[in-house]
Amino acid sequence: MRTLRITAWTLAAAGLIVGLTACSSEGDPNQLGNPETTLNPGDPFTPGPGGVPGGGAAGQTPEEGPPVQLEQRKRDYGESLRAASLKLVGELPTLAEINTITGSEADQRKAYEGHVDRLVADPRFAAKMVDYWRDTLRTAQVGQVQMNQPNKDFAANFAALVTVQGRPYTDLFTATTGTCPTFDPATNTLTAGNCPDNTGAPTVGILTDRGLMAQYFAPLAFRRARFIQETFVCAKFPTEFSDKPVSMGLTVYTNPWPFDSITGGTTARVDFKDTSAVNCANCHSTMNHIAPLFANFNDTGAYNATQIQVQVPIAGNPRANAVDWLPAGQPFAWRLNQNVTDIAGLGAAIAKDPDVAACAVTRAWNYAFSRGDVVGDLATVPAAVTKAEVEAFKAGSFNYKNTLARIFKSDDFTMW
Ligand code: HEC
Repeated sequence: MRTLRITAWTLAAAGLIVGLTACSSEGDPNQLGNPETTLNPGDPFTPGPGGVPGGGAAGQTPEEGPPVQLEQRKRDYGESLRAASLKLVGELPTLAEINTITGSEADQRKAYEGHVDRLVADPRFAAKMVDYWRDTLRTAQVGQVQMNQPNKDFAANFAALVTVQGRPYTDLFTATTGTCPTFDPATNTLTAGNCPDNTGAPTVGILTDRGLMAQYFAPLAFRRARFIQETFVCAKFPTEFSDKPVSMGLTVYTNPWPFDSITGGTTARVDFKDTSAVNCANCHSTMNHIAPLFANFNDTGAYNATQIQVQVPIAGNPRANAVDWLPAGQPFAWRLNQNVTDIAGLGAAIAKDPDVAACAVTRAWNYAFSRGDVVGDLATVPAAVTKAEVEAFKAGSFNYKNTLARIFKSDDFTMW
């Protein structure tokens, strides 16, 4: 059952991989449009929860698919232990470990659950989490730190440390110290540490991580805003939708922010209020209130408190000014009605966002089931499937290690 599920998924994913597409005012911004339109939720090759056809996009109610062969699935704790062990510590269980799974169904479950608890406490789990976070943050670097580039490992190390130590996941957006641990692969040891000096830069979890700032450097700091959105909300822009969309010529404005809350018009260096082909503001009303917060980090992630470091993608690539994003007096904000004054405020808003908690669980789910990336591969999981896990995650102080363990113990994981 598990093999079939992955195969069906892999087939579907093969045709659907969507990479990081740059948007430019000259290019075709439709490229950034939601590619989910190419998916047919009723299509048997569109993977749903656990390979069940008919999975919808995140947040949608799953369609009622054809009767699933649930009754034909049976528990196999031995197989589950093999799969869990590979995922959680990178090695197969020993024969002795497998042999502990014996006796009644209840005995087997108890033994299996004990193994999951053992695996997430194993030092090798730290190494798997470092890999997991490098994949998630896309910071895996080959070999040495590149010349003139900061070390890009710290963010993944910090996220792994938070996970392994069972600290709140929200520390990724709120921690003010110790966000640059080191990892020794020889001993699978994560050692807490503060970041090398980045003069004047605030420390806000991984949001201010120098490696990430360098990795996602791009005009007007939009790629940094996009990175946060896609990595931690699990969905592309646009992300805010009004219940009263407004027709504007050939396009429709669907964002709840007032249309005039961002920069645009014929005198602007970039016209974010252009409605001729696409309605730029559907995405940019949200993005332009976030991106300028990250504008003072340069291409190597170095911070300059008094000088914006990103450019406007027009002739000569001039340095951006605050008015390139927002008219004077507009606040920074995570979302409409969630104004913030700085990155720390943004981090606090992100930490409180229910979509961020749900996204964390979706990523853990996809990891357990070897599904692809929720955004890049469209490996969404219907909210109904992860609901219980999201509730438990929030109720349990955002302990990501516990969430992973719970998913590996779930019926979905142990049924084959
Ligand atoms: C579907 C959402 C969406 C729409 C619509 C959209 N953008 Fe963007 N825009 C983005 C995202 C996301 C990025 C960041 C892309 C990246 O660097 O990965 C971006 C980046 C940009 C950039 C920086 C370009 C660069 O070279 O990195 C400019 C300028 C821009 N958008 C202008 C516009 C304008 C003007 C329109 C309307 C004609 C528009 N965008 C429509 C989402 C959108």
